[in-house]
Amino acid sequence: MKPALILILLLLLTLVSSQTFHWGPCPTPMVQPDFDLNKYLGKWYEIEKLPASFERGTCIEDNYSLRPDKTIKILHAQKVKGKVRTVEGTAIVQDLKEPAKLGVSFSYFTPYSPYWVLSTDYNTVALVYSCTDILRLFHVDYAWILARTRSLPVETIYHAKEIFSRNNIDVSKMVPTDHRVCDVGP
Ligand SMILES: *[C@@H]1O[C@H](CO)[C@@H](O)[C@H](O)[C@H]1NC(C)=O
Repeated sequence: MKPALILILLLLLTLVSSQTFHWGPCPTPMVQPDFDLNKYLGKWYEIEKLPASFERGTCIEDNYSLRPDKTIKILHAQKVKGKVRTVEGTAIVQDLKEPAKLGVSFSYFTPYSPYWVLSTDYNTVALVYSCTDILRLFHVDYAWILARTRSLPVETIYHAKEIFSRNNIDVSKMVPTDHRVCDVGP
């Protein structure tokens, strides 16, 4: 086997062990029509997600703001073993004709990953989806239910999952993010 192929297989094994992976190419969900980035900026709390290896903590939240160069700064925070850990990332609108399809990167060395806002009312809830095709044989995806508050009514979560499902996104493995001990001192 070629070394590159072995590398890909190793990479896949690590992905498969911790991420959500499915056969076939990525689904092609509808995204938020007339997405208004300015109304989307600010603080979002993560309510539920498909498990992601980079997000094992609690109290997960993001603060989106515009930089002078019009890129979007993302301050991602989570609590791990009692300590708040923050990382800064960048989001960009890749095609002005499709403003709800952002690209997100948390390092200079990684390419932008898709960050698609499938649906949002800007002041309560947002559904975000990220999917990457691997050789068009299978795909690895992430999905998040975000909210402006640390919790959402169960009906809202139920409705959010319905929207994902309607777009052929499997959210049966979604897990809630723990927000029980967040706004207390250090
Ligand atoms: C989000 O980040 C911006 C820019 O860094 C900052 O001005 C703002 O206060 C932050 N908002 C919240 C809610 O933390």
